[in-house]
Amino acid sequence: MKIDAIYLKKFRNYEETKIQLSPRINLFLGNNGQGKTSLLEAVWTCINGQSYRTSVTKNLIKFGSDDARIEIRTSGDNSINEIKLVIEENKKKIFVNDKKIKNRTELKRILSAVILDREFKENLEKSHRPRRIILDSIISNISLGFKKKLKLYNDEIRRKNEILSSTKDDEILDFIDKRLIDLSYSLSEERHLWIDRMSKIAEKVLKKLDSKISLKFRIDSDSLDINNLTKKLKTNRTKEKITRKCMTGSHKDKISFILNKSDAFEFGSEGEKKSLSMALKISEILLIKKINKDYPIILVDEIGSEFDKERFNFFYRFIATLETQCFITANNKSILEPYKNKQSSVFSIINGDCKKIS
Ligand SMILES: Nc1ncnc2c1ncn2[C@@H]1O[C@H](COP(=O)(O)OP(=O)(O)OP(=O)(O)O)[C@@H](O)[C@H]1O
Ligand SMILES: [Mg+2]
Repeated sequence: MKIDAIYLKKFRNYEETKIQLSPRINLFLGNNGQGKTSLLEAVWTCINGQSYRTSVTKNLIKFGSDDARIEIRTSGDNSINEIKLVIEENKKKIFVNDKKIKNRTELKRILSAVILDREFKENLEKSHRPRRIILDSIISNISLGFKKKLKLYNDEIRRKNEILSSTKDDEILDFIDKRLIDLSYSLSEERHLWIDRMSKIAEKVLKKLDSKISLKFRIDSDSLDINNLTKKLKTNRTKEKITRKCMTGSHKDKISFILNKSDAFEFGSEGEKKSLSMALKISEILLIKKINKDYPIILVDEIGSEFDKERFNFFYRFIATLETQCFITANNKSILEPYKNKQSSVFSIINGDCKKIS
């Protein structure tokens, strides 16, 4: 599946733009602040029904406007689909072939995308919480089942925190804890399974850059052992009533990657952290392909400066070998080097307007 055309109206800094795309490589050139990331965000938002940059719907609408529109036409597998997203101040309406859909997971059946940007590495290296959130977003992109589980779990934690902030009723808290034990175990177990699959693929990728490298992962979690989790929830109850926050469960899992025997995000060099981030993204692409039997669309937002020449060429050559559609932003054309002989279109983005230049 690929995107043939995109139409944007009043999305971020775009007034109105219509673009016909190449089925393979699409390179978007532009200086800072012209709308490159916003274009990738529009593609992602239309495919997933929500942005990866903000949860505030109205931020997507051009300043001073009432609503925004994103429309994409996709084709492949002998089918053509039109996805339309109407973004209003507090809500989004999604239409597939002019039929309004209620659940954005329906979009996932049409096509999927993977995004690589600088924030990915930044989130992995910041601390355990952003690392867990960004890895959960990858797993949710691969597995709809995990995404649903995560939502149920987060809703239950919210409910518990509300009780901890209000009545602190032990009977209700016992009831919620019982549900949390099951949800937490199941969520952490599935998280463990996917990270295991991801890190095995990532290790193979890293070995292509350095054959001696080894990659393992570790999850420090109270939730992988039900007895331990039950005990911890009991002993933490008094503390939780004081802090008004649930302190035990899957949302406290700590995930580490061990590169050649030491924690990559604690002790790794910049280059090692970059390589690991890139390898984890490649594992996301390959796992989506395995499950959907189709490659995701690949969105790459100006990661040129993130890599040295060797890693840069490795990553771009890898995505060049995949027969999938890519959207790449950059500030110069040299990025096209690994794509010689590949079908490509180059666009220029200036002040929220996108024009094909070759
Ligand atoms: N809701 C909005 N309405 C109008 N303009 C917006 C809105 N949200 C963001 N912008 C502006 O849109 C412009 C383009 O932002 P974008 O992040 O797409 O730039 P970019 O081309 O990726 O730049 P860079 O090279 O710095 O990453 C910015 O000037 C930003 O301030
Ligand atoms: Mg940008």
